[in-house]
Amino acid sequence: MRKFVMMLAVAAMTACAGGVQKKDVVATPVVEGAEIVLTQPDLEAGATINMALKSRCSSRDFSAEPLSLEELSGVVWAAAGVNREDGHLTAPSALALYPVKVYAFLEGGVYLYDAQAHKLVRVAEGDHRALSARQEFANNAPLNIAYIADTKVYEGRNMPADVVRFLCGQDAAGYAENVNLYAAGNGLKAITRGSAQSEEVLKVLNLCPERYTLVLAQTVGK
Ligand SMILES: Cc1cc2nc3c(=O)[nH]c(=O)nc-3n(C[C@H](O)[C@H](O)[C@H](O)COP(=O)(O)O)c2cc1C
Repeated sequence: MRKFVMMLAVAAMTACAGGVQKKDVVATPVVEGAEIVLTQPDLEAGATINMALKSRCSSRDFSAEPLSLEELSGVVWAAAGVNREDGHLTAPSALALYPVKVYAFLEGGVYLYDAQAHKLVRVAEGDHRALSARQEFANNAPLNIAYIADTKVYEGRNMPADVVRFLCGQDAAGYAENVNLYAAGNGLKAITRGSAQSEEVLKVLNLCPERYTLVLAQTVGK
């Protein structure tokens, strides 16, 4: 009995509850279409960065409840949104080349994040969420992200392909951790994933595998 109580206590301590709960937030439904115009980030919203760091953890249990437009906007802005007048992004990038693009897999299609215009542009129709992962929990989660690098960005820099891939992966890890912290600070759940059906994703998106590489993936939801 004592052991059981202790186990419950440990479970309570380690359970990933979906970050800091939000209060009084605007929640506009997302309407999918050729483009999704995003809302500007509310810089006053969310937990402190220290609270987000304290509550960040990986979740593997998501409901099908969709993200609101404000949440979707906040997530992609956290990943790779413009945060300065010179056009640089929330996440750092080796040599400021930004080869990694954010592809959002929603129920009705796959969208490429246009950071400068702060909008999602549909690049494939249909529900391809399962392709963006190799784990069942992602199939019905409201948002999966594939971080896909355009290695052409490094052309002419005389860098070996493995170094280019490594740097692209490092860029993507920064994007993904921004999202993890955004989620933790805004009542959402998230997990960084190395597992994805990369070849199939590139095929669906019509991206040439000699040039484009899926370097990391992520699931975000509630
Ligand atoms: C680069 C990277 C890839 C990962 N890939 C997966 C994955 O494919 N599937 C998964 O369930 N978890 C994946 N994880 C999550 C780790 O398993 C998780 O971070 C680790 O167990 C520590 O738990 P925590 O994030 O809750 O602290 C990945 C994490 C990182 C950083």
